[in-house]
Amino acid sequence: MRMLNDPLRLSQFFTPGNVSDYMSALIDINKFQEIHFLDPCFGSGNLTISFIDRLRNSEINFKKISLTLFELDDKLASSFKARLENTNLAKDIHYKIYNQDYLLNFISLIPNNENMYTHAILNPPYSKLTKSSTYWETLCNNGLILPNLYAAFLYAVLKQITEKGEIVALVPRSFCNGVYFSSFRKELLTLSSIKSIHLFDSRRLKFWPRGVLQESVILHLEKGTSNPIISLSFSQDERLQPMQYSIVDQSSVIRMKGDDFFIQIPTEIDMNNNSALFEQTFQPNELGFEVSVGPIVEFRMRANLRIKSTNCDLPLISGKHIKNRKLVWPSISKSILNYVRDVPKLNDFKFRGRYFCIVSRFSPKENPFRINSLVVDTSRISNSEQVFFENHIIVFHRNKRSLSKKLTFGLYVYLNSTFVNYFFKQFSGHTQVNIHDLKYIGLPAVDMLEKMGLLYLKSNQESQEYADSIVKAVMKW
Ligand SMILES: C[S@@+](CC[C@H](N)C(=O)[O-])C[C@H]1O[C@@H](n2cnc3c(N)ncnc32)[C@H](O)[C@@H]1O
Repeated sequence: MRMLNDPLRLSQFFTPGNVSDYMSALIDINKFQEIHFLDPCFGSGNLTISFIDRLRNSEINFKKISLTLFELDDKLASSFKARLENTNLAKDIHYKIYNQDYLLNFISLIPNNENMYTHAILNPPYSKLTKSSTYWETLCNNGLILPNLYAAFLYAVLKQITEKGEIVALVPRSFCNGVYFSSFRKELLTLSSIKSIHLFDSRRLKFWPRGVLQESVILHLEKGTSNPIISLSFSQDERLQPMQYSIVDQSSVIRMKGDDFFIQIPTEIDMNNNSALFEQTFQPNELGFEVSVGPIVEFRMRANLRIKSTNCDLPLISGKHIKNRKLVWPSISKSILNYVRDVPKLNDFKFRGRYFCIVSRFSPKENPFRINSLVVDTSRISNSEQVFFENHIIVFHRNKRSLSKKLTFGLYVYLNSTFVNYFFKQFSGHTQVNIHDLKYIGLPAVDMLEKMGLLYLKSNQESQEYADSIVKAVMKW
């Protein structure tokens, strides 16, 4: 169990000096004569110190510089306070250190808590915000949902920054897509515009403890303005070397689908291809079929699930039966469930027909592909061509019946293509794929998918290059 002041619980992973310098260098300090700076969770103080250095090196004569600094941890707060008091670091600078919870302070000031600061730099804590959390009721109301502490910090800081004020934040990339962050994204893009994004390719930055695996970004925002272009930069990790840069139109980063916004960070693939991929696609229901998560939830239906077959059992395909895009069924493992009892109460969960294209919801993190699909030919595993899918599987079907063979194989080729996987990585840092993601990626028209399926079936070549060449040819890229 974690203690209340446990460093992991408080996310005490400190931004290295070079990254702090990079973050403060992004900020435009020429706009205001008075600087009112906020660091809502200063930790060891690296970000604040980099920002002070930035101001000192600028030779601008500011009328006033004030720093408002929050940190929940007593030891960190008092040690940075002592550092500022005993050195020349904050000479001629007004500063206030609050050894307090920044979010509770923000809440306590409502409604007089807006437009207080000109600049903020933050590397906020991250952990899930649940309904039982202290902040939930006040922060997550009127349809706004802040699923994680880092989103709550960013939201509060955005509120407190003045018009044209700037924020630079080092945050996980998870807010860029997914339903949970949908209202947060809307709020973020309504309150501010994105000036730049830096993406770390590595999911394992050295200053994080073992076990923390997530892609993160440095997000540079300006409040209340609209920027037609966004600067993008990329580096492998926190060493920021080598760096790659590009400048893109904001419409190629901020995408609208339905009434939801997504933030998509273009990576290696050529921009024209991305747009083409995005523009030509449809939702499964527009193509006359459905995409669903397998309805069998192991822990709920355990009494009807079997490792070994007895009479009247039907195959159960779960995430554990997929290895390297191949179906390994039945599993010889003594713990993997392979069958479902064919009882009337489970009839509604049953899928009927011969070919099903399925996608595994989880991919091993070392696998360069996030979307891994395969075709299940039920005639090979069930005399009656009936099957059950477990909850870690996404399945394409029409009213729980199979699609045609050519369409199924077309889906398989398209979803496994390098293009779709690059595209997926642009907007998701997760190893997990959900239905919402697949709907966002979209699918080509049925005749194109069928063409892909036919070309694949004709040649029966398994190579990735061949599958990619089919998709490229049919999509006319
Ligand atoms: C990821 S660390 C980053 C620290 C520092 N900003 C940096 O970049 O090195 C997050 C910091 O937030 C502090 N913290 C966690 N919850 C807080 C809260 N509710 N209010 C203020 N600080 C908090 C933690 O103690 C920790 O020092």
